[in-house]
Amino acid sequence: MKTRITELFGIQHPIIQGGMHHVGYAQLAAAVSNAGGLGIITALTQRTPAALAEEIRRCREMTDKPFGVNLTFLPAVTPPDYPGYIKAIIDGGVKVVETAGNNPQKWLPSLKEAGVKVIHKCTAVRHALKAESIGCDAVSVDGFECGGHPGEDDVPNFILLPRAAEELSIPFVASGGMADGRSLVAALALGAEGMNMGTRFIATREAPVHENVKQAIVAASELDTRLVMRPLRNTERVLANAAVDRLLEKERELGAALKFEDIANEVAGVYPRIMQEGDMDAGAWSCGMVAGLIRDVPTAKELIDRIMAEADALIRQRLAGMLGH
Ligand SMILES: Cc1cc2nc3c(=O)[nH]c(=O)nc-3n(C[C@H](O)[C@H](O)[C@H](O)COP(=O)(O)O)c2cc1C
Repeated sequence: MKTRITELFGIQHPIIQGGMHHVGYAQLAAAVSNAGGLGIITALTQRTPAALAEEIRRCREMTDKPFGVNLTFLPAVTPPDYPGYIKAIIDGGVKVVETAGNNPQKWLPSLKEAGVKVIHKCTAVRHALKAESIGCDAVSVDGFECGGHPGEDDVPNFILLPRAAEELSIPFVASGGMADGRSLVAALALGAEGMNMGTRFIATREAPVHENVKQAIVAASELDTRLVMRPLRNTERVLANAAVDRLLEKERELGAALKFEDIANEVAGVYPRIMQEGDMDAGAWSCGMVAGLIRDVPTAKELIDRIMAEADALIRQRLAGMLGH
């Protein structure tokens, strides 16, 4: 399939694997890229720029296809060494960066000068327009369904994507709630040029996370996610578990007085215990409503081939057949 996104990134299929903390290692990124999509390494999971440089090198050993790096700009008291991470990306010859979180404007000149294409992830049309105006090459439009941080506007993709299509000139991919060929065809119909998936890619064979995480996603229904940290205006969609119940109870009790310290036990530094050790109640971890559509753990290639075959059949048979002659 050829879209503005496949052309922009030099990939075969318009499918991107979004950055994921403690999931987006070289193994997964390489598997997705080898399958014809765009795999993405998550920079901040690597503790230092040197570790990111090594992860990029490892990925390049596993694939000769394009892959990207996610750089998430979080509000932080002591910010990570962003200049160092950018240098590792540029020196490592990576040609695509997925930015997320705060406005990436400050970092665009050095990335552009090095010929890096930037796709910024946003949850609102106004943020997508801002990304376009500062020179991003594309955006990833993340609807309210998404795993991770859906923002505070709560607009689902059935509205958000056509609104983005009405306003944007640069190409965009649909993100949040995407799982299969139906998602891809719907995203294209709503004006996107491809799709970005997070949760679906965790439940693949190559995702370097504990088997318990994959099985939790397979077992979950679309009713099993919760929104946490709403009172802090840092909303995150996570899979329900004992720690999340505790966290939500504190949110109810403390109301507007809630501070980050009150819930730090449930959210800070919990990812390694969940993703690597498989301790599923260790804390809150991002997961999309799309878990309700995920029922198996295929390889990245099986997943992507299946999506593209389904999309082809949907367009050529189901949709074309409805038009009559
Ligand atoms: C476990 C997990 C960790 C994530 N970590 C990040 C991250 O560090 N940076 C980021 O920009 N997005 C992160 N995301 C969001 C994904 O890149 C993607 O936008 C989102 O998962 C799309 O929604 P979906 O899960 O419905 O496919 C994460 C998502 C998950 C499920």
